[in-house]
Amino acid sequence: MYTQFSPNDYDEAAAYIQARISQKPAVGLILGSGLSPLAESIADGVRIPYGEIPHFPVSTVEGHAGQLVIGQLAGVPVCAMQGRFHFYEGYTPQQITFPVRVMRRLGAQTLIVTNAAGGLNPIFRSGDLMLIEDHLNFVGMAGHHPLYGPNLPEFGPRFPSMTKAYAPELRALLLEAANELQIPVHRGVYAMVAGPSFETPAEVRFLRNAGADAVGMSTAPEVIVAHHAGMAVLGISSITNVAVDVTDSDADTTHAEVLETGALIVPRLTRLLMGVLGKM
Ligand code: HPA
Repeated sequence: MYTQFSPNDYDEAAAYIQARISQKPAVGLILGSGLSPLAESIADGVRIPYGEIPHFPVSTVEGHAGQLVIGQLAGVPVCAMQGRFHFYEGYTPQQITFPVRVMRRLGAQTLIVTNAAGGLNPIFRSGDLMLIEDHLNFVGMAGHHPLYGPNLPEFGPRFPSMTKAYAPELRALLLEAANELQIPVHRGVYAMVAGPSFETPAEVRFLRNAGADAVGMSTAPEVIVAHHAGMAVLGISSITNVAVDVTDSDADTTHAEVLETGALIVPRLTRLLMGVLGKM
């Protein structure tokens, strides 16, 4: 069984952060691959490297800075993770989601999750945005679930419902902001796979047939833990590449492409997030 954190571990991490900030964050924000520069738009940000925070894992992947940035975005007090933890790095689902419970302890009632994802829906193009309406958690369904082990009732129930894991009111708010800003946004289902290899063409076709519109290596664990703890969740995928679905294709997916396209999307995603935060 995975090592479990105790309620005290979350409290110690939250207390460490609390002592360094002046305003309690209302919104937690997780920045995906290539999207870290978004945190530069946070005004008066207090930066706390993950390594300083008790029990926090430290992120290892290129393109992930590994610090919390706490400040204001569009006038809303936010706590942003610049860099997240992935299952493929060797972290347990409990470690991956540790910061979410800490943000909850700090007072955040909303979680905005972003990620880089491969497009499966044939109408998606590299550089598009997708509002996540639902997910397929292949890693969790295979047993690597963030709520595996004893339940901590101080956070939420043993058997949480997942029907409205992606809060309908936040989805509506995002579409409203996107419409006002004239930023096109798709809607769809995000499939989480473990990685770190990208999908084979057969896996791409399988995921598409299973009802997924985009595929990535993150997000589902954090969303489950946030929803379990009663947070309202908003999820947005940056389609950084189009998943390759035939073996004789000349196209290929690379991490460099994911980061490059992610960087191109940042200004648009920043405007969109500021638009939706302004409505909260
Ligand atoms: N597959 C899995 N994860 C990803 C992809 C992809 O094509 N693009 C960005 N993250």
